[in-house]
Amino acid sequence: MADYRLYGRVAGILGLLVEVAGLDQALSIGSRCAVIARGGRRVVCEVIGFRNKRALLMPFGSLEGVGLGCKAEVLESEPVVRPSSAWLGRVVNALGEPIDGKGPLPSGPLPYPLRAAPPPAHSRMRLGGKIDLGVRAINTFLSCCKGQRMGIFAGSGVGKSVLLSMLARYAKDDVNVIGLIGERGREVQEWLEDDLGPEGLARSVVVVATSDEPPLMRRQAAHLTVTLGEYFRDQGQDVLCLMDSVTRFAMALREIGLSAGEPPASKGYTPSVFAELPRLLERAGPGVDRGSITGLFTVLVEGDDHNEPIADAVRGILDGHIVLERAVAERHRFPAINLLRSVSRTMPACNSVNENTLVDRARGLLSTYENMAELIRIGAYKQGSDPAIDEAIHYYQAIEDFLGQRKEECSTLAEGYTQLAALLGLPDPATEAAAAPEDEGAGPTDEGVAMHDASPGLEGGGTAGAAALRVRGRAEDLEKRRQRMTEALNLRRSKKSSARAEAVPEGSHPAGSSPDAPGPSSTGPSNPGPSNPGPGGPADAPAPLEPGAEAIR
Ligand SMILES: Nc1ncnc2c1ncn2[C@@H]1O[C@H](COP(=O)(O)OP(=O)(O)OP(=O)(O)O)[C@@H](O)[C@H]1O
Ligand SMILES: [Mg+2]
Repeated sequence: MADYRLYGRVAGILGLLVEVAGLDQALSIGSRCAVIARGGRRVVCEVIGFRNKRALLMPFGSLEGVGLGCKAEVLESEPVVRPSSAWLGRVVNALGEPIDGKGPLPSGPLPYPLRAAPPPAHSRMRLGGKIDLGVRAINTFLSCCKGQRMGIFAGSGVGKSVLLSMLARYAKDDVNVIGLIGERGREVQEWLEDDLGPEGLARSVVVVATSDEPPLMRRQAAHLTVTLGEYFRDQGQDVLCLMDSVTRFAMALREIGLSAGEPPASKGYTPSVFAELPRLLERAGPGVDRGSITGLFTVLVEGDDHNEPIADAVRGILDGHIVLERAVAERHRFPAINLLRSVSRTMPACNSVNENTLVDRARGLLSTYENMAELIRIGAYKQGSDPAIDEAIHYYQAIEDFLGQRKEECSTLAEGYTQLAALLGLPDPATEAAAAPEDEGAGPTDEGVAMHDASPGLEGGGTAGAAALRVRGRAEDLEKRRQRMTEALNLRRSKKSSARAEAVPEGSHPAGSSPDAPGPSSTGPSNPGPSNPGPGGPADAPAPLEPGAEAIR
């Protein structure tokens, strides 16, 4: 069969938009053409719309030398990329071509489409266990699971790129795919060399489309990043997909949409932007039968307005948001995360009871402090007016120090909880978890019985009740409560025995009702508990509940 090619002619050019006549029946949205510029250079373009029987194309490169009457050839092949594990440690452009001067990239065996659909929702695995991201503020307060997608929302210069580089270096994943979309060209090299560094780059593939590149390149760079993530996920790897930034991806979509004649909807963003965002972000997540893509996407919020349309849309798609705040960065606490405005939607379900106890306690203290922050700073709050506020002030600086992390410092998941537990004076979840099976086997401890027996109505009993008590009371609180209860019991007991001494002759006390019999706080594991009053029977039970409960209340 003869080798022939379909082609049309350039019939108009406006800005980045090329109108091609003669191909309207042969092309569809997303098809590609090569426009032959004067001098023979081939400019690959994509069809973004149709008008008056002419195809509207946008270029992946410069339109220099393209004029009316230039040939536009239809490209048959679907845009695909053939990644392989040899791409690790390399930097590529939106077309998958190496741009790091380290020579050609070996092709993998399988073609991966650049614009794949996300796996069907019903066949995807559920999110995996917690992933150690190496940044303690996120590990402890905004725990992230394998396959989760989180947004990092911040204004310009608040620390997004540095935070991403920390995640790329310290996270305990298998592979990183990193998309730098619409970054300033100067910053890319600095970021790769200074922030990411050789050890971060060694387990990453970086896709770069700088701000001066055409919008189609910026859009494709974002899709290529996720495509590479899909390749490694299909190899059964846990992939961390980092993208800086989704906003610049949305801006590229806006340029494309406006050029095609779409009406601007919100802040100049066209309706197709909001349709395309989930198509990109939904591609991250757990795989069908193995592997996962955990996504962390930065969102540049213009003018620090966290409710601007892209931030709003992305927040709705993702499984959590980490808010970086300028006020926090200005007092030089990095990462400048405002915990009270940040959420991980997999919490608290992904945590143990003890971990949630720690997080709730610290969040409670921070929120109490923040509510009063203005008054405290101007000196209008008088120390001693409210014990809860005094306590929040006491812990505030320690929690702030905990949240700060230098970019050279890595902090593991377990270290984070241990440090937080130590500063709050609460049990370390790691130690507690190790001791838990033993405790269960030995029955309730001395303290456990006191908590359980003394306040069944207050705490609801069971593990949840014990956890709630731990939230409220540090070790010294418990000790005080126990002392108060013991005093109340002793008082009650002495009243009883003096009453009995009047009614019964000495020496006729039944077993367990002797004035010297141990109270509930000292019976230890052998204490029969409220539902089993022991050999003395209810009338002579050594540990009446009500006085203890009263004492606690
Ligand atoms: N963990 C950190 N430790 C110390 N300094 C930090 C840290 N994170 C950020 N910074 C400081 O904040 C500055 C800005 O950070 P970065 O470049 O990451 O901001 P950005 O939000 O990516 O900015 P842009 O919007 O311009 O891309 C850095 O130059 C650095 O001085
Ligand atoms: Mg940046």
